[in-house]
Amino acid sequence: MGSIGVFDSGYGGLTILKEIIRALPQYNYIYLGDNARTPYGSRSFEAVYHYTGEAVRKLFDMGAQLVILACNTASAKALRSIQQIDLPVLAPERRVLGVIRPSVEALADYSKNGHVGILATRGTVASASYPLEIEKLYGKGRFRITQLACPMWVPLVENNELEGAGAEYFVRKYLQELFAIDPEIDTIILACTHYPLLRRLIEKEVARHVKIVGQGHIVADSLKDYLRRHPEMDLRLAKEGKVSYYTTDKAELFEQIAGIFMEQKIKCEYVQICP
Ligand code: DGL
Repeated sequence: MGSIGVFDSGYGGLTILKEIIRALPQYNYIYLGDNARTPYGSRSFEAVYHYTGEAVRKLFDMGAQLVILACNTASAKALRSIQQIDLPVLAPERRVLGVIRPSVEALADYSKNGHVGILATRGTVASASYPLEIEKLYGKGRFRITQLACPMWVPLVENNELEGAGAEYFVRKYLQELFAIDPEIDTIILACTHYPLLRRLIEKEVARHVKIVGQGHIVADSLKDYLRRHPEMDLRLAKEGKVSYYTTDKAELFEQIAGIFMEQKIKCEYVQICP
């Protein structure tokens, strides 16, 4: 019996894992953070594809039957190639899913006027995965999308700088840039798994009617639906409610920071994923 693997470049995917566990507590989970090589946000397509591929193979070795790329940058740059090129050779019966498609599907529930801001890493923005996926699903013209990279937000979160004057400055800076481009935005997608930790500051900076959408509950609902539609996968998954954490860097540091994300004590092990 296998587990559900959840992969992120570092800690950000924990915001997704937390909601998945809340929605589906009965399954076994393996979280893998590639903290040694984080951040992925400004890396090339080749690097993100290569690193993500190694992580997926490691999660498969550790028994994952289904892997969620809980990282927008990895979903944007590596998911399609892994699904189309690697999976058929590596493990045709296993699955790798991302976070972009479910977020795009949920968009219609949030925006009333169609003006949407996508805040993400440079890599996700440059890949244009969100605008392309939105156009594919809804056609041209239904949404006016403004993408903006917020490269200072991941370091703030990774260093637990979640409040104070420094964090406020950088949160305000990018939101002002976003609304200067399109003042009519009524929905902001936090399209980077680290950003929900800055939510309190983000909410302070935007008008009350603007919806701030994190991805955790969206991905959790989508996974629940996937498992309902794929009983053959569900049958291969152990249901003992176990969660294991692995990092490619220092386990002690991971335990400390992941504890903040998960709001509980975490036990983590170091794992090497590059050959
Ligand atoms: N968690 C990644 C994402 O959602 C961002 C962190 C990074 O740059 O590695 O895009």
